[in-house]
Amino acid sequence: MKTTHKITFGNSAYMSDISNESIDLMVTSPPYPMIEMWDEIFSEQNPAIREALKNEDGNRAFELMNQELDKVWKEVYRVLKSGGFACINIGNATRKIGEEFKLYSSHSRILEYCISIGFSSLPEILWRKQTNAPNKFMGSGMLPAGAYVTLEHEHIIILRKGNKRNFKTEEEKLRRQKSAFFWEERNLWFSDIWEDLKGTKQNNIDNQIRERSGAYPFELAYRLINMFSLKEDTILDPFLGTGTTTMAAMAAGRNSIGFEIDPNFANQLSMRFQEIVTLSNDLIENRINNHLNFIKERISTRGALGYKNKVYGFPVMTSQEIEIAFSEVHKIVNKDHEFEIEYKEASSYKFSEDEILQKEPKSQQKKIWE
Ligand SMILES: C[S@@+](CC[C@H](N)C(=O)[O-])C[C@H]1O[C@@H](n2cnc3c(N)ncnc32)[C@H](O)[C@@H]1O
Repeated sequence: MKTTHKITFGNSAYMSDISNESIDLMVTSPPYPMIEMWDEIFSEQNPAIREALKNEDGNRAFELMNQELDKVWKEVYRVLKSGGFACINIGNATRKIGEEFKLYSSHSRILEYCISIGFSSLPEILWRKQTNAPNKFMGSGMLPAGAYVTLEHEHIIILRKGNKRNFKTEEEKLRRQKSAFFWEERNLWFSDIWEDLKGTKQNNIDNQIRERSGAYPFELAYRLINMFSLKEDTILDPFLGTGTTTMAAMAAGRNSIGFEIDPNFANQLSMRFQEIVTLSNDLIENRINNHLNFIKERISTRGALGYKNKVYGFPVMTSQEIEIAFSEVHKIVNKDHEFEIEYKEASSYKFSEDEILQKEPKSQQKKIWE
């Protein structure tokens, strides 16, 4: 199996080289309106934003920033296939402009716009990033009616274009089964609050680009890709940044297309993608070890499981998990902003139930990404 990963440096408001209805899933995190680190990027796209900020007109600046994002959401709607999902990670902003401190809710603004252009809104995820910072509470301390609740969460908006996707051919049905995830992963991934994902390190390795990357955790993109697409599907990220979505697509055996407005990211992206072989193999090892630990515990408390995975030989909870086969990355080939990934057959792990029961549970996880 092979997948391809294309990077375009340009404004994703104009993705004219992507044809209508050709993308299976979009996963992204845009620049957050009214978070200061993104003021300049927005102002370059529309100088009236710089003017509004200078005039301390927070509402106008917020609206104009969102109008820039609207252009991208409209393009995303065009290129998504019917039945395709769009997942948008977005944090609201708190900001004092002039004398007024308030919340700018990008979450509700984006949701309202996306629904207005035809997307259906689905149950969404709150990503809770608790902080222990001593100064996390804002305002009047212990005195009432002047303190503010601490913002410690971001949203992952989940949208769909049209109705449920149909899996018509036998090939597609089998590909869907091979792309399945474990029962215990389903229980964690499909809960509406994610508390186990830490924010990611924000320093960029290349000093030509801005100081903070605004990156989201690898696991966030990887989960969404596994939850809402099949192997060999095509994933789009219109705000690519450090390429986390591309890495996750590579590791999950999907194709991808990424847009990034800042061409200074080119070197960093190429360097980062060279880590894919190690990363994807560590990731598979973690998923398999987590599963082995889970079934060992399950068998010892509840007895034998009813099904066996065909590829790895270990027990699984349901018949939907018997075809699961991870795509092990073998090689990456760089062809000028287009990267090709070659995969091995999923054959290097085989487990018998006796072996699993004798195995010491591995508590140590391989570190995937920070
Ligand atoms: C929040 S960051 C994305 C971070 C990314 N998820 C990661 O893990 O590195 C948003 C990115 O979108 C880029 N950007 C902003 N406006 C854009 C536009 N109109 N078209 C393409 N890229 C844009 C910014 O330069 C920035 O790198």
